[in-house]
Amino acid sequence: MSGQRVCVSDFEEEARKVLPKAVYDYYRSGADEQISLADNVSAFNRWCLVPRVLRDVSTVDLSVSVLGQKLSMPLCVSATAMQRMAHPEGETATARACQSVGTGMMLSSWATSTVEEVMSAMTVSGSSRGVLWLQLYIYKDRDLTLSLVRRAEEVGYQAIFVTVDTPYLGKRRDDMRNRFKLPPHLSMSNFSTASLAFSEGNYGNDSGLAVYVAKAIDPSLCWDDITWLKKHTRLPVIVKGIMNGEDALQAVNYGVDGIMVSNHGARQLDGVPATIDVLEEVVRAAQGRCDVYMDGGVRRGTDVLKALALGAKAVFIGRPVLWALACQGEKGVTELLQILKQELQLAMALSGCRSISEVSRSLVRRVELTFRM
Ligand SMILES: Cc1cc2nc3c(=O)[nH]c(=O)nc-3n(C[C@H](O)[C@H](O)[C@H](O)COP(=O)(O)O)c2cc1C
Repeated sequence: MSGQRVCVSDFEEEARKVLPKAVYDYYRSGADEQISLADNVSAFNRWCLVPRVLRDVSTVDLSVSVLGQKLSMPLCVSATAMQRMAHPEGETATARACQSVGTGMMLSSWATSTVEEVMSAMTVSGSSRGVLWLQLYIYKDRDLTLSLVRRAEEVGYQAIFVTVDTPYLGKRRDDMRNRFKLPPHLSMSNFSTASLAFSEGNYGNDSGLAVYVAKAIDPSLCWDDITWLKKHTRLPVIVKGIMNGEDALQAVNYGVDGIMVSNHGARQLDGVPATIDVLEEVVRAAQGRCDVYMDGGVRRGTDVLKALALGAKAVFIGRPVLWALACQGEKGVTELLQILKQELQLAMALSGCRSISEVSRSLVRRVELTFRM
């Protein structure tokens, strides 16, 4: 460890030094010119917090209920693929860290650990383990897709986040230059054949993952497939990747159990708005008929607070977890989550909010930036 880590960027700096270049590039990259990648982060600076004072903030309660589960804070972990490239314990380390901090983890379909392994990595407390949700890609092979859902249901996953922004993989230049594929000792462990597990194949001069997606993932998905999925699972279904109020309205009309505002960490379509900038439009369109979550560019406790004020029920992080895993496995992710939790707690206190229910729209104001924060 190179020194005390006090914020998310300390983890990234350290991770960049320890990760192989192709892995760091894969984790970090956005699509094309990476305009939206930068904007996801900087857009938070276009929203100001307008604090209230004299409200006795000697205790601040961050707890919240998400998808029927009480969490210690409204900050959870988003799906990021192939975590064993960052640390030998990969997703199992992330799951244990989430459990120890009392928050939820969304496991990628493309994990390098199986859904069963990740669930059993958590310790049993009372009748339940920690809170795990499955991120689902819908494959051309629908039986394969449903078998993953069944396996997740059987071992106790509590919701399905179905990703709807990836009919094809976005163009990530570094992955093309690096001809990105998994190192030979790893595979997408949820799949048993080598080609589906992304562990072998001829990917030519392209990003191996882009070729994999074009072969395996169903680009013909449409709203009726949400009905299909809901019919085949008893778990709540949340659509991940909504950026437009009209799609949000469509989603609630199709009976989804939640909407996740996300631009996939700006890895799909470049030139899209920052997620924080479309959150309110989506919240309005959902009309309170389901909860709205968001991810993209969240790096500070104040970012979380701004998203909550704009109507998110909970906020998720992707890349910071990968950096923390690379730094120090489970311990690193636990430390990261605790730092963000403390930052949120302080931001709440300094804004005059004693509980999440006191975070209201009037806490944030959009500003034209005249200075750099
Ligand atoms: C390396 C990496 C892998 C990802 N893998 C997946 C995935 O398998 N499924 C998915 O729905 N989203 C995936 N995402 C998107 C994240 O779930 C999330 O939307 C995004 O990372 C949030 O932005 P942030 O990284 O700025 O926090 C991935 C993102 C990254 C950076």
